[in-house]
Amino acid sequence: MSESIGARWAARIVVATSLFLAIYLLVVAFVLPPCDFDSLRPWPLSLDFSSWKKSSIITTAAAGFGMSDGENVAVFHNGAYTSGASDEPETPPLGSPWFAPRASYINNLTSALSPSTTGVYGFLYNDSATPDGSYGVYNWCNMPHVRKAEYVVPPADEHRTLVYVELVHRHHKRTPYAANGFPHEKYPWHCEDAQIHLYGQPSGLNENISPGVAHYAPTFDAPNNPFLKSALGWHGSCQFPQLTAGGLADAWQHGMDLYDVYHGLLGILPAMDDAAWHDHVAFRVTNNPITSQTVTMVLGGMASAAGIRAETMPDTPLAVEAAGFDSLEPQYTCSAAAALFEAIVDPGPPASAIGARTFPVWADHLKRLAPLFAQLDAASGVDPANPRGFHASVDHYYDNLSSRQCHGLSAVAGISQDMADTIFRVGQWEYSRMYRDDARSLTASVGAWGVWVAQLAGHLRIARDENEKQGKNGVRYRHNVAHDGSLSRLLSILQADEMVWPGMGSEVVVELWRKEGTSSYDVRVLFGGQILRSSHPELGLLDMVPLKALLTYIDGLVGVDACLLPAKCNGSQPL
Ligand SMILES: *[C@@H]1O[C@H](CO)[C@@H](O)[C@H](O)[C@H]1NC(C)=O
Ligand SMILES: *[C@@H]1O[C@H](CO)[C@@H](O)[C@H](O)[C@H]1NC(C)=O
Ligand SMILES: *[C@@H]1O[C@H](CO)[C@@H](O)[C@H](O)[C@H]1NC(C)=O
Ligand SMILES: *[C@@H]1O[C@H](CO)[C@@H](O)[C@H](O)[C@H]1NC(C)=O
Repeated sequence: MSESIGARWAARIVVATSLFLAIYLLVVAFVLPPCDFDSLRPWPLSLDFSSWKKSSIITTAAAGFGMSDGENVAVFHNGAYTSGASDEPETPPLGSPWFAPRASYINNLTSALSPSTTGVYGFLYNDSATPDGSYGVYNWCNMPHVRKAEYVVPPADEHRTLVYVELVHRHHKRTPYAANGFPHEKYPWHCEDAQIHLYGQPSGLNENISPGVAHYAPTFDAPNNPFLKSALGWHGSCQFPQLTAGGLADAWQHGMDLYDVYHGLLGILPAMDDAAWHDHVAFRVTNNPITSQTVTMVLGGMASAAGIRAETMPDTPLAVEAAGFDSLEPQYTCSAAAALFEAIVDPGPPASAIGARTFPVWADHLKRLAPLFAQLDAASGVDPANPRGFHASVDHYYDNLSSRQCHGLSAVAGISQDMADTIFRVGQWEYSRMYRDDARSLTASVGAWGVWVAQLAGHLRIARDENEKQGKNGVRYRHNVAHDGSLSRLLSILQADEMVWPGMGSEVVVELWRKEGTSSYDVRVLFGGQILRSSHPELGLLDMVPLKALLTYIDGLVGVDACLLPAKCNGSQPL
């Protein structure tokens, strides 16, 4: 009797154990991230997102996204239309969970090039200041950003607490890169009003040894250097590039506004003169000095908002990854991503070899730009036979003309405002094309910027775990200063529904919120101070998306700690 009860129990235990094991393996296969758990998998990893999407776990986690469409969505242009798809996509690589962005004027080359289109969809290109009435409008010179007047605190009845903030911030307005200078500049550009410093200082041992005070004063007009004197491009006392006085002031304002929101309004940032400041904030820059020039002004703006005088300003460390490996700029080598990106911007065969067949989209757009390039070359001195990158995209002309306009410098004879505006519209089209419309763009961005995204996922996990265990976080606010190439790839990976070229001072902010009294963590993403919408149906409006859904998405693309990327980047696995 007792023996048969024992046997029945033994059988039950065996059944229960196998059931548990089966469920565990399923959970490992579909929920837990790849790489770390490879040994538990009896089958190879699949990055086929068509099956991933059918997994009920994800669908449940993501149910209801896109339902709460509000007014605060980042939509930068006016007069949107929604008919049809965007300009013809290429084919997405197998398994890429790419979804086309919404069709709008921005990704419609016909309307960008049409002589009947004037202006740049209401975007601003001529001053850092945006009139109060139109705040939120795209401003290339100084993008709309997080500030108290527009910031939306989640409704009190949602009972949410902000746990962690990570921000990527494009540097502010600057002089152009030397490579984007026209060969024959009619006037010099001076920067006596924007001093750049770089200094070393021994710490600790001997406080009596301290550096002097100095700043750079470059000159391109040295009388005794004939090579420099006759160099093409800009002359003057600026570094090309460097932040200008206006860019420094804009960065300061962003710092002040961020402090007002994340300290004043939400209290997640400690007071800057509190000893806890160093425990809870982290700043990071790239190897390009213009990001350090930006972040120091951001810190100055924060100090000003905190009422801290220069003598008592805390010394904030700036993290920077080694040149050649930096994931923020990005600089690490991902040959597969570089090759894919080159395919996206393939200029096609030389004009003489082009037959009657249809061209890939990028080559076709360059062909349609030829008459405009011819006019611009004539005015700028760019040699059509050796255009040095001026004809591979509108980037160089765009940089040249927009930085001039943002600083109120005079126009170039022979380049009308209409021509400049056309370049700006096509620039917007190109960024949408490179990072969203081309169906290969997601895969290329994942390769080139996946390490940073995996770092973000790691930070979000740590913030959640610390908050669960201790009810508080170490680092609560992380601020990365980077480049348009960084923000564009982030927007590409998040699959922004409307892709624009991230202007000067653009901020993408990832906020992690916890529902009070629960272990429920949700993510909100802001761009231009407004909630970002993703074209991925399971992300949708990035307004309190379950953290788990975002982490699953990122892990599926790059693996935990980007462990999938080395093999994807060197070509031993498909990207
Ligand atoms: C692009 O714009 C043109 C003219 O503005 C319009 O005729 C065309 O339908 C648009 N294309 C798409 C795909 O919406
Ligand atoms: C800047 O551009 C806007 C829109 O094109 C225009 O309304 C405004 O007058 C311009 N401002 C200056 C200072 O040129
Ligand atoms: C723009 O191009 C002109 C013409 O070559 C060049 O002289 C100038 O340095 C460029 N300016 C910027 C801001 O790149
Ligand atoms: C590519 O990277 C993977 C993962 O790091 C490595 O195992 C493999 O040997 C590399 N292959 C080549 C050809 O470099």
